[in-house]
Amino acid sequence: MTDLQVRKMDFAFSDYDVPFLWNPQNPAFSSMANAVSFLAIGFEKMIVQLITQAKPQITDPEVAAEADAFMRQEGQHSTAHRQHVKALIRRYPGLQQTLDAVIAEFDKLTAETSVKYRLAYVADLEATFTPVFKLMLDNDKNLFAPGDDRVASLFIWHFVEEVEHRSSALIIFNSVVDSELYRMRVAASIFRHVLQVIRVACVGFNEHVPLEERQVDALSMFANYRRGQTLRRWLPFLRPADNGTMPRAFDDLGLREQLVALGGIIRSQTPGHNPEHENLPALADEWFQRYEQGYDVTRWYTADSVSS
Ligand SMILES: [Fe+2]
Ligand SMILES: [Fe+2]
Repeated sequence: MTDLQVRKMDFAFSDYDVPFLWNPQNPAFSSMANAVSFLAIGFEKMIVQLITQAKPQITDPEVAAEADAFMRQEGQHSTAHRQHVKALIRRYPGLQQTLDAVIAEFDKLTAETSVKYRLAYVADLEATFTPVFKLMLDNDKNLFAPGDDRVASLFIWHFVEEVEHRSSALIIFNSVVDSELYRMRVAASIFRHVLQVIRVACVGFNEHVPLEERQVDALSMFANYRRGQTLRRWLPFLRPADNGTMPRAFDDLGLREQLVALGGIIRSQTPGHNPEHENLPALADEWFQRYEQGYDVTRWYTADSVSS
């Protein structure tokens, strides 16, 4: 039987304003994480619909229990990200269009692609999460600690639970489709779609969040956009888009750690990949321990004692 726990969280985003630059020390990471919040809502909605559709094909009761717990965890993530994004929309109303556009991308995928393709989509993308989130959680002092504790705690909780259910999507894919070859064959188109949706979110940020409050060009996380901007600066007849500065979210992180994460992403797409054997972030263990002890994990850095 699955060990996954479904935990409900309330980060009280409606209590007071949520800034776009929730970590003012790292505007590029603030923007990147905000894009994750938008993406998570559409992606996790797709997962819930997908698992509901795929259920009749899941015959093994253990896999069915895993799929159910996985879907319910994702449902909780989506609910919490909706609260975060709702607070951003309150402050920057144009972002409602951005949210609608992101969700529409995933709704289109649900309407136009097979269950098999979407199971591969979820398995491929979720397989990258453990190495990527390990990089972020290992550097929490830089990326999360200086920020708004509600937003920081939302991401820490979500990423820790992604590590917890790191095998779920592959278990479900293998039980229904069971073709490593297919998963590899569609990987390129899947990651193209993921990047396209992130781009939709970033274009929306540039359009609807004033530059003074955004500080960075949200599109600067795309290497080809950065190259285009550089080229435009060199060519006298072109002007670079004036959307803000272009720092990188991971500028302060060690290059070696970033390369390890990149290696993990590549490994996650190869046949026979088993997420159970991944190196895990120490923060995940600490989080589960504190949660068990009744610590207020919705205020990861500022809760001072075990809540009653
Ligand atoms: Fe999630
Ligand atoms: Fe997930």
